[in-house]
Amino acid sequence: MYKLNKITDKIYYVGVNDRQKALFENLWPLPYGVSYNSYLIADERTALIDTVDVCYSDVFLKKVAEILNGRPLDFLIINHMEPDHAGSIRLLREQYPQVQIVGNSKTFGMLQGYHGIITGLYEVKEGDILSLGSHQLTFYTAPMVHWPEVMFTYDTTEKILFSADAFGTFGTLDGAIIDADMNVDRYWSEMERYYSNIVGKYGSPVQKALQKLSSTEIKIICSTHGPVWKEHIAKAVSVYDRFSRYEGEDGVVIAYGSMYGNTEQMAEAIASELGANGIKNIAMHNVSKTHSSYILRDIFKYKAVIIGSPTYSNNLFPEISSLLSKIEIREVKSRLFGCFGSFTWSGAAVRNLNAFCEKMKWEMVGAPVEEKQGLKEEKYEACLALGKAMADRMKII
Ligand code: FEO
Repeated sequence: MYKLNKITDKIYYVGVNDRQKALFENLWPLPYGVSYNSYLIADERTALIDTVDVCYSDVFLKKVAEILNGRPLDFLIINHMEPDHAGSIRLLREQYPQVQIVGNSKTFGMLQGYHGIITGLYEVKEGDILSLGSHQLTFYTAPMVHWPEVMFTYDTTEKILFSADAFGTFGTLDGAIIDADMNVDRYWSEMERYYSNIVGKYGSPVQKALQKLSSTEIKIICSTHGPVWKEHIAKAVSVYDRFSRYEGEDGVVIAYGSMYGNTEQMAEAIASELGANGIKNIAMHNVSKTHSSYILRDIFKYKAVIIGSPTYSNNLFPEISSLLSKIEIREVKSRLFGCFGSFTWSGAAVRNLNAFCEKMKWEMVGAPVEEKQGLKEEKYEACLALGKAMADRMKII
């Protein structure tokens, strides 16, 4: 009954779309949903690559059964154990008790911990080959892209890389599965958000994985989220490459908290001076309104960050604290930094922002500005000077 989505002659897409979940990992907004991709290779022997979130196991198992059409499922290859992909393993095993589960030693520790499965395991190591008949699969470990057990499966026959989370993006598959058959415009920004929110901490492991793949011919990338990449492989790889190097484009993120508009006026002054000095990409975010998911995306995207905070109970504004913590966890490197803030009776926010810059080993640009109560002429001019200093510094990179 299900339409068979073929990637190639013997490889089928059996993934699902999730338009119900509001927050991925219960943290990150999903305005366009997310897909959990799974692939079935129906060769002389059959192999499923990853499963889907358990909430969608019913339709997923029906799709698999329909393609198998009574044939046994010989292998389940687990590229990644995070439950958005591994959630249906136990149910799959109940339906196909003879299936051999393919993974590495780290996979199997997690398989036991999450699902209590310790039998029917087929362990593979770096470079091992599994023959399905005409398809020869090679396994490459890719630790910390995004968990320690992650591995890539490469079909040497058709030059297809099954890449786990790598090259994935938020956004459901609304019709077609392969990029060449759809308008992919909306996925690029969602890919940047997916990378920065989910994989962002692991820039160095992603670089190692990209190096490992650099001499491998790849005609198709089958990620676990978003479109199958065929026509836009270079662009998808370039997003992951640029973000994992923490390379920022020309542009400034201004993220501020403001209870009564005083710190916000400072942000406006800084932004206007940046604009007056030729900075065209300015991403301005009120942290009480914009979810940190989008601010993180922009901080990965641009090379300069200016943060403003009122002093709140002798500390940073709580939403600013939360944002700083998320930036710190991701170990974002090499940003130009500026800061500002306001207070009513005793200032603490700017001191904390200075300390954050030191901890991140970012470059402080211009003089931090801190105003007592309402914004007045002298500090207004200081905000303009901060904007000018940042614009000048960006021109000499
Ligand atoms: Fe899509 Fe790291 O799981």
